[in-house]
Amino acid sequence: MGTVRIGIIGMGGMGYTHCKNIVSIKETKLTCVCDNEEKVAREKGREFGVEYFSDYREMMKSGLCDAVIVVIPHWFHADAGVFALENGLHVLSEKPLSVTVSDADRMVKAAKQSGKVFTVMHQMRTEPIFRKAKEIINSGAIGEVMRTLCIDPWYRTQFYYDSGAWRATWKGEGGGVLINQAPHTIDLFIMLGGFPVRIKANTRTRLHKIEVEDEVAALLEYKNGAWGYYYATTCELPERQFRIEIVGDKGKLIIRGYNLYLYRYSAPVSKYTFEAKEMWAGITVEKEALKFKSNVATGAVEIIKNFAAAILRGEKLLVSGEDGLRTMEFINACILSGKKNKSVDIPVDRKEYDRLMNSLKKSSKPKKRVVVQRATDPRLIKK
Ligand SMILES: NC(=O)c1ccc[n+]([C@@H]2O[C@H](COP(=O)([O-])OP(=O)(O)OC[C@H]3O[C@@H](n4cnc5c(N)ncnc54)[C@H](O)[C@@H]3O)[C@@H](O)[C@H]2O)c1
Repeated sequence: MGTVRIGIIGMGGMGYTHCKNIVSIKETKLTCVCDNEEKVAREKGREFGVEYFSDYREMMKSGLCDAVIVVIPHWFHADAGVFALENGLHVLSEKPLSVTVSDADRMVKAAKQSGKVFTVMHQMRTEPIFRKAKEIINSGAIGEVMRTLCIDPWYRTQFYYDSGAWRATWKGEGGGVLINQAPHTIDLFIMLGGFPVRIKANTRTRLHKIEVEDEVAALLEYKNGAWGYYYATTCELPERQFRIEIVGDKGKLIIRGYNLYLYRYSAPVSKYTFEAKEMWAGITVEKEALKFKSNVATGAVEIIKNFAAAILRGEKLLVSGEDGLRTMEFINACILSGKKNKSVDIPVDRKEYDRLMNSLKKSSKPKKRVVVQRATDPRLIKK
């Protein structure tokens, strides 16, 4: 059994968590760390007994690592990821893959050209409930998708938004709830319900003192004409009590919090509607609360293990670069639609989106109140 030598770029809350993750995995070895604040890089390098760098290019050219994990603010994911791939390294990018679809394109293209392993940290895919839901959809149990819904409530304090100069600004982060919290659920929603071809969204800053959106509501349209509804916020409790509904011709799948329900129809709606000979006839519906394994390993550690297995043994990735790109299409379509107050077709017009981001970045103001914290959500840290 081989070992993948890993370097981590970004020694903030999540980067530090990944250092501890890597040390706990048999097939990975932490060999170097990087942070553009040298003091931070040095402190973490010493803590883990590895080389440290303040410039990721130097680390990538040092020969000390076979692969990198990119854990820096979103705007830098693409440059760092592409540079690593072009220098023969495998890449695991934190979510969101990038800020713009044009940057995500660059990463996917560089990965293809390099032939290196390229994946994205959408760790919720490892959770049994979503694996089971995908299995049901793939089995054809609900038939053709007729309607979807995703409600994704998160909660963040103003103190959270004030914890880094980059957070919640167009220049530093490139979006709000859509780019930071929602990518996890959007990834799952697309995986289960399919990929919309058109989005009409409203975005706004409802509660927080920030530049970017903390609330979004959107109407989706799919290739077969089906409609869907999407909502995300950082102003609602209880947190992460999300709801996903995928309604098909033969049944529907509902995820409410961490419960999974399958409704099976006794006949497809598209057939029965025209075959029924009674005025008030209806289809029999059976509801089943689906069981799924609960004692399996999940989370970021499983994505890193999968990354290593793909490098060492060619194992199939749980999340492809194209999956990350699709999530970016959804996010960019919502932001563009909200800002321009129009329906946006997917694939998103790359040039139009880049123009919008450039003008938003120009209008972006440095934050007055920043109390820097390098701490990730404690719920993401394995006990
Ligand atoms: N998968 C998840 O659930 C999850 C959770 C938290 C954060 N993240 C992602 O991780 C990334 C980092 O978030 P965080 O919360 O750790 O932020 P953070 O502010 O705590 O840390 C970012 C670190 O990157 C360093 N940095 C900035 N620019 C750099 C550069 N060019 N080169 C090297 N270092 C640089 C900063 O000095 C800082 O130490 C974000 O993209 C975020 O979306 C993912």
